[in-house]
Formats: sequence, structure tokens, C-alpha cells
Amino acid sequence: MNYRDTAEWLKARFSESLGMEIVPAAAIILGTGLSNMAEGFNVVLRIPYGEIPGFVASTAPSHKGNLVLAQLGNKFVVFLQGRFHYYEGHSMPQVVFPTRVMAALGIQTLIVTNAAGSLRRELPPGSIVQLTDHINFMGTNPLIGANDESLGERFPSMNQLYDPDSRARCDEIAQSYGIKTHKGVYLTVTGPSLETVAECRAFQGMGADVVGMSTVPEVIVARHAGLKVLAYSIVTNYSNLFHDEAHSQSEIQEHADLAGRNLQRILKDFISGLP
Ligand code: HPA
Repeated sequence: MNYRDTAEWLKARFSESLGMEIVPAAAIILGTGLSNMAEGFNVVLRIPYGEIPGFVASTAPSHKGNLVLAQLGNKFVVFLQGRFHYYEGHSMPQVVFPTRVMAALGIQTLIVTNAAGSLRRELPPGSIVQLTDHINFMGTNPLIGANDESLGERFPSMNQLYDPDSRARCDEIAQSYGIKTHKGVYLTVTGPSLETVAECRAFQGMGADVVGMSTVPEVIVARHAGLKVLAYSIVTNYSNLFHDEAHSQSEIQEHADLAGRNLQRILKDFISGLP
């Protein structure tokens, strides 16, 4: 399935439901435990991934697997409730397929959220971390293979990937609500095994602040396609550097819920202000 065909299919579904043609301003990929964020918006259409041509089913815990179209004033935004992870056994093209579909839909800004482990004591569980940069430690790249020149260049720059203007705008919004956010570098691993203590120490030495198993494939593809990128991690647990207990799914969910509600307030205002 070609992502352009899927975008055409979605456009038809959108105009069928709303009685007019629309181009959503932004798409938001919702990470582990953050699926509920879409419910705070005015949902106008919900399509299970299983119905969307080319989408595979998500198997990760607390990932819902729905594309949700929501309205905010005169703007529309797409929520991807649940993402496809490399560790689930999906190929890289499958992992980044929804992002390519969003680009083909004409969306200008991609907002990515994820759950991450903290490599810094000052970033306890529940912290909201705005990504300033990333380290791709997956050992692969979603752009490997023939390059689609109509979409983007062969060797796209990753300089200032996380849009400085969007980040500054979100900082202002967070401040106006008194919501504390942090900044950090995200390092991605394939997972699904969590990091050893030695790995955590190495990642810290490399300059990473948080570690997770997603996001980087999507943001690389988004930049390749010329989208603006904004990304946030919600810290759900300290890495093994700070404690060596296993983390329960309920612990992860609890931290994500609270921080997710605050992040939702920030992103709602940010989307409202998009052109
Ligand atoms: N490591 C990797 N991925 C994660 C973690 C972690 O500690 N927490 C949530 N996602």
C-alpha cells in the first residue's frame, strides 16, 4: 500500500463525514499511556487502525490504535492514538507509514509524544521533557532504501530538527499556566529489553537525558518530508541508574496520566495558534 493512496482514502473519509474538504493543521502521535489526550478535544471522527489501508494493528500496552480527527475552533488536528514500534516486529517502512500518510495529507506540523526513562536525577517520573535533539541508537534508519525524490532529499539535514519557534511558543504557554517543563536529549533504542546499568551510564556519557523506544524514526521521516517537528517525552520511570526495581504498568500509567493532562493544556493552546 502506498502512503499517498492511504492519504486519499482518509481525505475521502474526512469529507464524507464533515461535508467539506479539510486539511488538518497538525498531527499528534500519542505515546504509551497518552492516548487519552485526544478525549480533551472535540472529536469529530474516529477510525480504528484496522480499517485504514496500510496501517498495521498496534500491540503495545495502552496503545489504542485509532486515528482521531478533532476540531479546535476552525482548525482540525489528527491524533494517532497508538504507534507502531520497531520492537513489535514491524519493519521500518511500517513504523513510519502513518507519518508519511500525514505528510501526504498536507499536514504542516508533526507533534510527537512518548513515554521515556530518565537518565538524570533532576528528571523524576512525571517530568515533561521538551526534546531539543536526539541520538539515534537504533542501529537503523527509516530512510534506508530508494529515496522518493518527490518527498525529500537523499541526505536530509537533521540540524535544528525540533523546531525552535514551536518550542519557544510552547515554553511561553507552559509558563503562562505555571506548568514546569524541562529540556532534554532523547536517545532511542530498539527495545524491547530495557537498558542495563552499563548502557544507561554510556548513554548519559553520550549526552542523553531520556531514553525510549520510539519517536526517532517518525521525526526523521517528518523532517525528510519537510514537516515542522515538536516532541515531548513524559518521564514514566527512572532508568536503572537510580533504582533497580522493575516498573509496573500501573506505575507507568499513573505518571503518564498526570503529566499527560498538563501536556494536553500546552498542546491545545499551541495548536490553536497554528496558522
Ligand atoms: N527505557 C526505554 N524505554 C522506556 C523506558 C525506559 O526506561 N520507560 C519508558 N519507555
